[in-house]
Amino acid sequence: MAAVQRAYCIGSPLFSLSLLVQFIPLSPFYFTFLLLFMAPQPYKLLFVCLGNICRSPSAEGIMNHLIQQRGLQGQIVCDSAGTSSYHIGSPPDRRMTAAAAARQITLEGKARQFQRSDFEEFDLILVMDKDNYEDILWLDRGGEYTHKVKLMCDFCRHHRDREVPDPYYGGEAGFTYVIDLLLDACEGLLDHVQQTYLAG
Ligand code: 4NP
Repeated sequence: MAAVQRAYCIGSPLFSLSLLVQFIPLSPFYFTFLLLFMAPQPYKLLFVCLGNICRSPSAEGIMNHLIQQRGLQGQIVCDSAGTSSYHIGSPPDRRMTAAAAARQITLEGKARQFQRSDFEEFDLILVMDKDNYEDILWLDRGGEYTHKVKLMCDFCRHHRDREVPDPYYGGEAGFTYVIDLLLDACEGLLDHVQQTYLAG
């Protein structure tokens, strides 16, 4: 009994610990902690193409535009990446930026390369074509994240394309087509995310 009393006497480590346990729930730090970790986390989308300067930043810009239109800011967050390292640090292609601006969509950000940690970080990974699909899944040998990787065109409702064509070596019409195709896919994708993950 004396040993127990000694262990809990003022100034002892156990006494300090018991104070901590009693008063932490009242501290502002504790409330901040609760808010941060118990608040619903946003649903995270990653768009992927080869260079991350044409198609995937367009998908990201279009999706952010639709998220704003629907008042879903903070509930869904978007990012984009390339399978290659060709254009790391570059802004979106100016021809792609012009085609997007013609539809009142702003493209932002700097190109980065897809990394393995993105599998964990994002809820859904949307690839533009089948080469992107294979390149990404090659990094997931165990197939642990296959269920997170989808072809962007799977969400189209008005276009029959299976892939978003690479506009990089073509003319202006190709860039405009990418924007219109991605507008269709992003509308379908956003409906899907809203109905499946944000409902309730
Ligand atoms: P993205 O387009 O994959 O839609 O960004 C491309 C950008 C650059 C290259 C190819 C495609 N490139 O070969 O440099």
